Amino acid sequence: MAQTVLMLNRGFSTSPSAMTAIKHVTVIGGGIMGSGIAQVAAQSGYQVTLAEINEGALQTAKVSIETNLKRVAKKVHKESLEEAEKFVTNALSNLRPTMNVMEAVQSTDLVIEAVLENINVKHKLFSSIDPIAPEHAIFASNTSALSIQEIASVTKRKDRFGGLHFFNPVPVMKLLEVIRTPETSDETYGKMMAWGNTIGKTTITCKDTPGFVVNRLLGPYLNEALKMLERGVATAQDIDTAMKLGAGYPMGPFELMDYIGLDTHKIVADGWHRKFPNSHTFRPSEILETMVAEGKLGVKSGEGFYKYDKSSKL
Ligand code: CAA
Repeated sequence: MAQTVLMLNRGFSTSPSAMTAIKHVTVIGGGIMGSGIAQVAAQSGYQVTLAEINEGALQTAKVSIETNLKRVAKKVHKESLEEAEKFVTNALSNLRPTMNVMEAVQSTDLVIEAVLENINVKHKLFSSIDPIAPEHAIFASNTSALSIQEIASVTKRKDRFGGLHFFNPVPVMKLLEVIRTPETSDETYGKMMAWGNTIGKTTITCKDTPGFVVNRLLGPYLNEALKMLERGVATAQDIDTAMKLGAGYPMGPFELMDYIGLDTHKIVADGWHRKFPNSHTFRPSEILETMVAEGKLGVKSGEGFYKYDKSSKL
């Protein structure tokens, strides 16, 4: 936990302009990932526009950012309520939520897309903002599973395009995967790495390959846990206990799927299956199909492999 506090302090105190020319960041998509990215950038001193076309989702994002900023502030400024309040006020003053995506990209240095994991949706978005955003602006996708090069293919700025892949919960998870395609320029890559460090993340470099590093390992692990449950090897709870106490993971695989959202995990797992149709590892799970069809989506719906009350926070 001490490490987390250190990371958050570092993110807040580093001057963005001293490290990189990136001053303004536009995050498109106000879901769990987009709102987390916007929060971390704003609390690190960047001017941030959060664009989300769904009004309800934008309201939810605003509430969750404020709640999570308070959680961070409590940790960073344990000794002073006044400093904690200032931290929240400063971060919120750096953040501008909007429903107007086109206007949000007109004056910006970095655009981070965190919309639906659907190549057509991403292509439509990037091809529409490419002619509007400033020439120098870097485009990045937070995709978990799609090819960055394929997403970038609809733009004329392939040298200023890369992947910035965050982890949930964004304010807490220390890693940022920085993905460069064969067309990403050295300058763009350097700026993405430097920017990641100024928001307090530890960056790793990764080629544009399916699942990058973390999800390429996490996907088969979660799928194998589902199959283990289907084979009746152990209960979900015992498998979770085993991985927490036997392997030191903070959450077991079923707790993690509940946290990510079973529907979200299913979209990713289905993508893996399409990519590797003959692989036993990625064969769809009947339990997962049934639970998603029944609306048991994990923490967000109140029930997944476990039951949750309304106060459970994402
Ligand atoms: N914002 C700010 N702070 C948060 C937070 C959030 N969203 N969520 C949790 N925290 C803080 C809490 O306030 C708490 O702080 P204190 O220790 O100061 O009290 C701390 O984090 C721990 O939280 P909790 O006490 O609520 O619960 P916990 O100890 O079980 O930790 C967890 C929760 C951080 C989520 C931890 O269980 C964990 O690390 N789980 C694994 C998460 C993981 O694997 N993420 C990757 C998912 S895969 C992915 O993201 C890939 C992708 O492509 C999307």
